[in-house]
Amino acid sequence: MSTTEELQTLVLTILDAKGTIPNTKDLVASDNKEVDQLALLGALKSLSIADKEMVKYETIEEEIWVLTDEGNEIADKGSHEAKVFDAIPVGEEGIAISALREILGETAKIGQGKAFKNKWVIKRGDNLVRAVDSIIDQTRIDLEVIRSTGTHSDPKVLFELRKRKLCDKHKVISYSVSKGPKFSLTIEKQARDVTFEMLQSGEWKTANFKKYNFDALGIPPSGGHLHPLMKVREEFRQIFFEMGFEEMPTNKFVESSFWNFDSLFQPQQHPARDAHDTFFLKDPAICTQFPTEYLKRVKEVHSIGGYGSTGYGYDWKIEEAQKLILRTHTTAVSSFMLYNLAQQKEFKPVKYFSIDRVFRNETVDATHLAEFHQVEGVIADKGLTLGDLIGFMNTFFNKMGVKNLRFKPAYNPYTEPSMEIFSYHQGLGKWVEMGNSGMFRPEMLEPMGLDPEVRVIAWGLGLERPTMIKYGINNIRELLGHKVNLTTIQNNPICLF
Ligand code: PHE
Repeated sequence: MSTTEELQTLVLTILDAKGTIPNTKDLVASDNKEVDQLALLGALKSLSIADKEMVKYETIEEEIWVLTDEGNEIADKGSHEAKVFDAIPVGEEGIAISALREILGETAKIGQGKAFKNKWVIKRGDNLVRAVDSIIDQTRIDLEVIRSTGTHSDPKVLFELRKRKLCDKHKVISYSVSKGPKFSLTIEKQARDVTFEMLQSGEWKTANFKKYNFDALGIPPSGGHLHPLMKVREEFRQIFFEMGFEEMPTNKFVESSFWNFDSLFQPQQHPARDAHDTFFLKDPAICTQFPTEYLKRVKEVHSIGGYGSTGYGYDWKIEEAQKLILRTHTTAVSSFMLYNLAQQKEFKPVKYFSIDRVFRNETVDATHLAEFHQVEGVIADKGLTLGDLIGFMNTFFNKMGVKNLRFKPAYNPYTEPSMEIFSYHQGLGKWVEMGNSGMFRPEMLEPMGLDPEVRVIAWGLGLERPTMIKYGINNIRELLGHKVNLTTIQNNPICLF
């Protein structure tokens, strides 16, 4: 088959010589073969697009009759009835029907009836005898006509032969082509891109650019791919589920300062509550729905203390608690969940976890983004101790393949004691911080209405750091955000701890 370029040259040369091509079905390619009309359409389309207009073409739709395999066979060798006639020797004797069958096989059976009907043969005893001197094989003649002209002058013949499955009607498409307003013998190659050379030579000003095809379907994506963070998240989730944890509903990024800070016994003057560290919402700027009694108790514990605490001794303001923010940690959700737990008639031990996004107003650099994912775990039960927290941390990190934990005393407004968790990083050759943990303070838990016997151990870690270590990514901007290389995302293997 000819290439698009060959077909284009063929069309242009004929147009140049003759002016038009009335019907492309008569075209003969350089290899003397018929031109494939579908391939031709491609060639015509690209010669006639809006900015080229070298040719114009119209579609011609025709019906043509084509012979079936059996029809072709008959056109070549004659009809079954003619074969029967030919097989009968001239003379009174004719041929025994059984002998005819032996010579012609199936054809004898099929052809006999028609030969009788045409009055070409008669039966004499067990023999068939010729009834005429010669015959005209009209079926064969008709089929030959159809084969060479694509039709027949007698519609009844076409109908009859189609019924006998010797021919059938086909639709064929061809084209009539004429010169377009920009007709020329040479096809100018259109530029697809602005190149450095074009910019340097100034050629870009006059170059003939290929128009964008906004109707193009584009390359279908090969399928969805999980982001490395989502793969690691799934690993963590499985570890939590394995250990009997329930997932907390963290599906909201906007939180009130009340749940994010106040309920966690974080004083209103705390630097983390500053616009430098926290994103505040403009519209809507505040939330006014809080559990009234609980809000009162939170106010009291901050300003005058209680539950064995002296509090902070400052003037707690509801306006500060009402401010809407992008949550700075998922501990806001843990707090909300523990408050709900405290409202249950009977206390039941719980294990909660969540892995979701949090936001901090940080300057973005290679290891910091203004948003990241936090892995949070909370266990509430009577009589839990710091030993349980340490023991649990060891088991949890062990499942991730992280051994050798060290704990360092730390400070959080809502936990006492608090511990930072470190692990020795072989690659870096130093101790790196993995997370933060502690036992929630009575000043946080008791205003909620939890039994003073109930202890809550909790911890939080980032999802990004273990993911970067796992996938050998050094710059966080290669992991999250608009600079992420999609191919890398697609090719990343599944992570297994
Ligand atoms: N909220 C803490 C942080 O953002 C993590 C944490 C959770 C610490 C629970 C102690 C207890 O770092």
